[in-house]
Amino acid sequence: MTPNIVQTTPIPGQKPGTSGLRKKTRIFMQPHYLENYVQAIFDGIGGVQGKTLVVGGDGRYFNDRAIQVILRMAAANGAAECIVGQGGILSTPAASHLIRKRGADGGLILSASHNPGGPDEDFGLKYNGPNGGPATEGVTEKIFARTTDIDSYRILEAHDVDLGAIGVTNLGDMRVEIVDPVTDYAALMESLFDFDAIRRLFASGFRMRFDAMHAVTGPYATEILETRLGAAPGTVVNGIPSPDFGGGHPDPNPIWAKDLMDHMYADGGPDFGAASDGDGDRNMVVGAKCYVSPSDSLAVLADLAHLAPGYARGLAGIARSMPTSAAADRVAAAKGIECFATPTGWKFFGNLLDAGRATICGEESAGTGSDHVREKDGLWAVLLWLNILAVTGKSVQALMDDHWARYGRNYYSRHDYEAVDAAAANTLMADLRAQFDSLPGQSFGPLVVEMADEFAYDDPVDGSRSTGQGIRVGFTSGGRVMYRLSGTGTEGATLRVYLEQLETDPAALAQDAQAALAPVIAAADRIAGIRARTGRDAPDVIT
Ligand code: G1P
Ligand code: ZN
Repeated sequence: MTPNIVQTTPIPGQKPGTSGLRKKTRIFMQPHYLENYVQAIFDGIGGVQGKTLVVGGDGRYFNDRAIQVILRMAAANGAAECIVGQGGILSTPAASHLIRKRGADGGLILSASHNPGGPDEDFGLKYNGPNGGPATEGVTEKIFARTTDIDSYRILEAHDVDLGAIGVTNLGDMRVEIVDPVTDYAALMESLFDFDAIRRLFASGFRMRFDAMHAVTGPYATEILETRLGAAPGTVVNGIPSPDFGGGHPDPNPIWAKDLMDHMYADGGPDFGAASDGDGDRNMVVGAKCYVSPSDSLAVLADLAHLAPGYARGLAGIARSMPTSAAADRVAAAKGIECFATPTGWKFFGNLLDAGRATICGEESAGTGSDHVREKDGLWAVLLWLNILAVTGKSVQALMDDHWARYGRNYYSRHDYEAVDAAAANTLMADLRAQFDSLPGQSFGPLVVEMADEFAYDDPVDGSRSTGQGIRVGFTSGGRVMYRLSGTGTEGATLRVYLEQLETDPAALAQDAQAALAPVIAAADRIAGIRARTGRDAPDVIT
């Protein structure tokens, strides 16, 4: 089989965002589009000659076809081996683990994360490096640069590889190994957590509901929770990955996982609920009538991780994205360990994890993880919660009450305005920048502005600087608001407004978050003129 060299021309719009390239599926399916981007990845990382790559995705529409293209292109570009999840399935954290465990040179993960899937929905592809984590900014820039001057790509003309059959085959001169997607990942989880304690918890009658949202974590959760940990059959719902995620948004938040919320807030509902997203890196955790915000979850997990065997030695440090609430900072301060605030996107945690400066990381967008892989990991967070619940014997609500009593409560919420006019969103941000000098000292209701700036990050490990990472306005009350434009939306612009207020008065810890944040929410709108500029009365999504 000789590789075909196909002439092509650059296709605009192949600029990778915070987690690879995401586009409408039909855009990816255009002639040469996927091929161009795959070749740009290969060229951008210095070629794949003799390299080993991990390949898998979240099972969404076009996952299997795209994998066949990637395999034929990897073979034509001289790759030595591709390790592929059976059926083309690999959750993002499982792919990260596989890259590390097998010492691979990197991996291609097919997913648009929590975005819906299907011919008229979203598709995505991202490259992860040899540490198992998202490509660094330097690498994504090289990949993007190649998409702008690409003139040809290499592809083998060959039959499809049978992705369903575990074992080894050849594609041209390239070795293709199809592996069970769950086995290695489940073993890793077993090495970190006290499975005996969790087994006893389930045996005692503790009831859980895990909503896999028709996405990739179904097979992982069924094997780990039901088979290995003895949770009752039926604990995992919506557990079979479907190409269009059952027509839903596989995004684990109270809006898109409403069915789970309804079960958890019903009288006599389960003790513990959880959900994960399309590719298995996000998580939502909810106790009986007790939703846990991702920022609070990060703080509780960091505080009590030492109860799990994998973290018994304590944490080196905690890292959070800048818009994530400062609840984790208070835990780090109490423990006397380092705490880092990074730009949004998991790739910024990679250096801290590699350097051993941070052990646990998290983002307000339902991402939590640790140094066990280089991605956020939905099931990992769920298992750490289970380990803590099993060891303490407390309910989720009791753990949250304990936490707030000790550290205070960082009331927190994110308001998203989706598919807004891109020009209007950019003007809103530009006009905010123009107010950095005039805002301090101004009053908005009971709040007085203390500072306003745009977040820039100096990586403490490699010294690189990332600018333009979100506008922040701090109030003298300790509250703050952040404004950011999403890097993962696929339609128009998505404005994210992050709102936070610390409360330490013991009598004020049990309020509704939106009520507690009302002054910050009002100030956020007045400062940026959100309603007037977007023409929206209210956010599309509140988390
Ligand atoms: C969103 C989240 C961010 C996360 C990313 C990938 O990015 O806000 O925390 O890392 O998805 O899952 P955004 O759309 O805000 O750029
Ligand atoms: Zn995801």
